[in-house]
Amino acid sequence: MSRTIFVTTALPYANGSFHIGHIMEYIQADIWVRSMRMSGHTVHFVGADDAHGAPIMLKAESEGITPQALVARYASERPQYLNGFHIKFDHWHSTDTPENVELSQDIYRRLKAAGFIETRTIEQFYDPVKGMFLPDRYIKGECPRCHAKDQYGDSCEVCSAVYAPTELINPYSTLTKATPVLKSSEHFFFKLSDPRCVEFLQSWTTGTNRSGSKRLQAEVLAKTREWLGTGDADGEANLADWDISRDEPYFGIPIPDAPGKYFYVWLDAPVGYLASLKAYCNKEGLDFDALLDPQGDTEQFHFIGKDIVYFHALFWPAMLQFSNLKTPDGLHVHGFITVSGEKMSKSRGTGISPLRYLEIGMNPEWLRYYIAAKLNSHVEDLDFNPDDFIARVNSDLIGKYVNIASRAANFISKHFDGKLAYLGDTQALAQELAQVADKVRQDFENREYGRAIRQIMAHADAINQAFDAAQPWIMAKGIGAASEDQKAALQDVCSRALAGFKALSVMLAPVLPVLTNRVAQDLFGADAGFQWPDAAALPERIAPFKHLMQRVEPKMLDDLFEPPAEPVPTPGGEALAETIDIKDFAKVDLRIARIVDCQEVDGSDKLLRLTLDVGEGRHRQVFSGIKSAYSPADLKDKLTVLVANLAPRKMRFGVSEGMVLAASHNDEKVDAGLYILEPWPGAQPGMRIN
Ligand code: 2FM
Ligand code: ZN
Repeated sequence: MSRTIFVTTALPYANGSFHIGHIMEYIQADIWVRSMRMSGHTVHFVGADDAHGAPIMLKAESEGITPQALVARYASERPQYLNGFHIKFDHWHSTDTPENVELSQDIYRRLKAAGFIETRTIEQFYDPVKGMFLPDRYIKGECPRCHAKDQYGDSCEVCSAVYAPTELINPYSTLTKATPVLKSSEHFFFKLSDPRCVEFLQSWTTGTNRSGSKRLQAEVLAKTREWLGTGDADGEANLADWDISRDEPYFGIPIPDAPGKYFYVWLDAPVGYLASLKAYCNKEGLDFDALLDPQGDTEQFHFIGKDIVYFHALFWPAMLQFSNLKTPDGLHVHGFITVSGEKMSKSRGTGISPLRYLEIGMNPEWLRYYIAAKLNSHVEDLDFNPDDFIARVNSDLIGKYVNIASRAANFISKHFDGKLAYLGDTQALAQELAQVADKVRQDFENREYGRAIRQIMAHADAINQAFDAAQPWIMAKGIGAASEDQKAALQDVCSRALAGFKALSVMLAPVLPVLTNRVAQDLFGADAGFQWPDAAALPERIAPFKHLMQRVEPKMLDDLFEPPAEPVPTPGGEALAETIDIKDFAKVDLRIARIVDCQEVDGSDKLLRLTLDVGEGRHRQVFSGIKSAYSPADLKDKLTVLVANLAPRKMRFGVSEGMVLAASHNDEKVDAGLYILEPWPGAQPGMRIN
C-alpha cells in the first residue's frame, strides 16, 4: 500500500554555517526518504532555517546589519552544502516568513481558546543599559558555590553547580558589563501541567502510530517517562508550564493582542516544519490542510538530535494535539558525532568542516556510505575514525562492490557484445536477489542502516566468491576457438555477477544516489534511477564499463582536519606570531604575479580561478577565496603578490599552484572585507619580494 509521508530534519539556527553534525542528520534523513520513495511511497521532505531568537538579533546588531540580512547570508550558503552532499530536500524555508507567522499565531489562538494559555508576572534580570531582559547565557558572575569568576548564569563550568542567575555573586551583563537589575513583566505560559496535557502525553509517548509501530525509541521513551513522572513512586507528572513569551526587543513573531510580546523562538521553530510544508504545497499545488488533517493518512516523522527531545516529545505533540492538528507519528532521534572517540574540537584539530571535505576533492558519497555503515536505530553517538573510513570505503565499497562490475563487465563487452545470458534456473537467482533486497529495504525503513550495509557487503562477498571460484579469466583464454558450451558458461558466470551487481546497486541507491544512477543509466541503459523491484529484474544487456569511483587517498584524511586553531585573538588586535629569523622568512618565496585571466568557479560561492604570469614562461592556476570581495573584471591585468613555492594543493576544482595574499580582519567571523595586495607601479611579474 502506498503511503504519504511528511519528513523533516531539525531546523538549524540561521546564525552559523552547517557543521558536520547537521550534514550527518540530513544524510540519515535523505537515505530514509530515498528508500521510502523507491518503494513507491509519496514523501514530502522539507527543511528550513530557524531564524528567530535573541542570539541572532544580537549577532546581527554586533555586525551592524539587520537580523534578516544575517539570516539571508546563512541561507544563501545552504545550497552549496546540500547539493554538495546530494541531500535533496523538496523545499527549504525559513521560520521568518508569512506562512510561519500565520501558522504560529493561529496555533496560539487555538491553544488559548482551549484554555491552555495563562499569563503570570515574573521577575527576571534586566540590562538597564541595553534596555532588555537577559537570557541566562548573557549573564555572568561569580559562582555561588566555588567562587570561580566569570561563570554563566545557569551553571558553573568549574564546579558544575547548577543555579539561578539571581544566585550569582556580582552578576554582570555580558552585553554591556552593566549590573543587571531585577525587573518584573508579564509572561505567557503554555500549561503543560494541565491534566488534559499530561493525560495526552502519557498516551502519545507510549502509544503506537497509524502504521502500528512505536512512536518513540526505547531510550527516548525512558526519558519521557522520567519527565512525565510515570516512573516515579508517586506517579505524579513533574511538568512545569512552559514560558512561551519574550519581551521586546526580540527578533520573533508578535503574540496576537499583546503589544511588545513575542513568541519564544522554540514556539515558532517547530511550527516552521509546517510553514515549510505549506510553502511547498503552495508551490506544487498540493492540499496542505488535507496533509495536516488529524483524521487523514499522512504520516509525519521528525529526524532530530538527542539534545532537543524535550521540545519534540512534549511541547510539540501537545501544541499540535490541542490546536486540533495532526500529531507526529514518530521521532527519529540520533546521537552526536565524535572523532576518534572524542568530542570534536576545533582547537585540538579534530573538527571536520563539510566544505573543506568537498574542497579537497573528497567524494560526498564516501561520507554517505560511511555514515550509513555506522548508523543504527538507537540514540548512539557515531564515531568518525579516519582509518576506519579509509578501510570501509577502499576495502568494502570499492574493493567488494564496485570491483564486481569492472571485473565482469569487461568479459561481456569483449566477448559477447554486451549481451548477458544465463544458464539454468534464472528464477532461483531472481528470487535470491529479491530476498536480500527485501531484507535490506526493511532495514532502511527501520533505520538499521548499518545492518543493511552489512547484508549488502555479505552478498557482495558471495558474488565475488562465486566469480573467483569459476575462474572466468581462465575460461576466457582462447575463447575464440572454444565450444559454444564453454562460451555460454563464461557468459553465465559474468551475467550472474552483473545481475548481482545490479541488485547491490539497487540496495545502495538510497546511500549512493549519484553513483547508482550512473550504474542504472550508463551501464544498464535504464531511463531513470532504481526502484526496489529492479533488484530482482535480471539485466539483459550492458554498455561498456566506465570507471565508477576513485579510492580514498589516506593523505586526504590528513588534509581534512584543519590544524588546531590559534588561541582566539582579543577583539582589539591579534597577538603577533612567534619571532622568526631572516632564514625562516627566506623560505617563503614571494613573487610579483600578473593576473592574466580570472574566472568564476562553477559550483563555488567562495573561489575565483586566477591564471597568473609569474615570469616563468608558463602560466599558473591559483584558486583564491576572494569571490566575496572581487569580481573577475576587478582583477584582470592587475599585479599582485603570490606565495610561489607553496606546495601545489589539489582542490575539488583542480590543482592550485600557490597562494595569493590578502588582508582581512583577524577574527574570521567579523566581515570587515578582504583586500588583495598590489605592488607600486613598475614591478614586473617574477620579481622576488624581499
Ligand atoms: O537546536 C537547534 O538547532 C534548533 N534550531 C532546532 C529547532 S528544531 C525545530 F523545532 F525547529
Ligand atoms: Zn563553581
